[in-house]
Amino acid sequence: MNYKDKIILAPMVRIGTLPMRLLALRYGADIVYTEELIDWKFLRSRRKCNEILNTIDYIDQTDGTIVFRTCKEEKEKVVLQLGTCDAERALKVAKMVENDVAAIDINMGCPKEFSIKGGMGVALMAQPEKANTILKTLVKNVSIPVSCKIRIFETPEKTLELVNKLVSSGIKAIAIHGRTRDERPQHAVHTDIIRYIAESICIPVIANGGSKEIEKHGDIYKFKELTGCTSVMIARAAEWNCSIFRKEGLLPMDLVITDYLKLAVDYDNSPSNTKYCIQNILRDLQETPRGRQFLECQTLEQICSIWGLGDYCQEKQSQYQKMGIQGRWQVTP
Ligand code: FNR
Repeated sequence: MNYKDKIILAPMVRIGTLPMRLLALRYGADIVYTEELIDWKFLRSRRKCNEILNTIDYIDQTDGTIVFRTCKEEKEKVVLQLGTCDAERALKVAKMVENDVAAIDINMGCPKEFSIKGGMGVALMAQPEKANTILKTLVKNVSIPVSCKIRIFETPEKTLELVNKLVSSGIKAIAIHGRTRDERPQHAVHTDIIRYIAESICIPVIANGGSKEIEKHGDIYKFKELTGCTSVMIARAAEWNCSIFRKEGLLPMDLVITDYLKLAVDYDNSPSNTKYCIQNILRDLQETPRGRQFLECQTLEQICSIWGLGDYCQEKQSQYQKMGIQGRWQVTP
């Protein structure tokens, strides 16, 4: 895994499941991060080869839900993002997946109450020793690259102090979301602090937080230039229209939904996760008559019918049934 000069799909809970990651890759993303997966949930799962879908599934042993599904197409490009506060647990997960993914990332930027209370996400930025120990443990003991994703502190100097501590663990790259833990997406992103870090350290810095200004593919390069980083990571702009990764330009929303739905059907994605992702593409359009019809859908086939893929879905699903697919696994909501 090389982190230089890359355009990357950011980790996004519930959005970054297999169909969206593959769509991002097919549109031109170089690297795709999984949604944040919590270590102890992962440790409850068991690895299984799904020979019908040609996927590797990590299935929760307590309720049969899919914790993580991946496939060959993304193997060299997928980074598994972990939510953890414990080096030993993180290492156990990393050992479980090291042959299925290209790299491991530790989430040190999530400001949600769930993460902070559990000592994860942005809580780790207040505990540099612990953060360093987690990273060092992984770097020493796994064969794939390790990285982390952080937010910034109020000053460049304080941010650099933390970054230097993290970099000393031997990580191969660091993604920096240019907002502090108390700032929200509507606040301006501090490109100057990202740039200061990028100019001060030797490993690749991945700039993040620019979606408000990224409306077309070319804007990605503007953000890259502003931040002085080698690589850029995109979350919301991709959530709204994944074709932002296309060098050739954005595709119309309906085409993006159609492309996404085909992958959701091919990889037997759960109706609830599929619906959630499409809701985040439609946004205000959920208020239109077609949007309201969509909101009433409960099955993948019903959703597919709205975009003219009802037959495609029906054929694929009956083919999977004939091949003996075991139940319909649900992706964790
Ligand atoms: C996120 N973000 C996030 N970050 C992370 O490290 N792990 C995660 O699982 C998530 N989940 C998530 C879900 C959704 C729906 C959104 C919108 C965001 C934060 C994200 O990766 C990114 O740091 C910010 O959204 C800022 O980047 P953009 O949106 O300006 O490109």
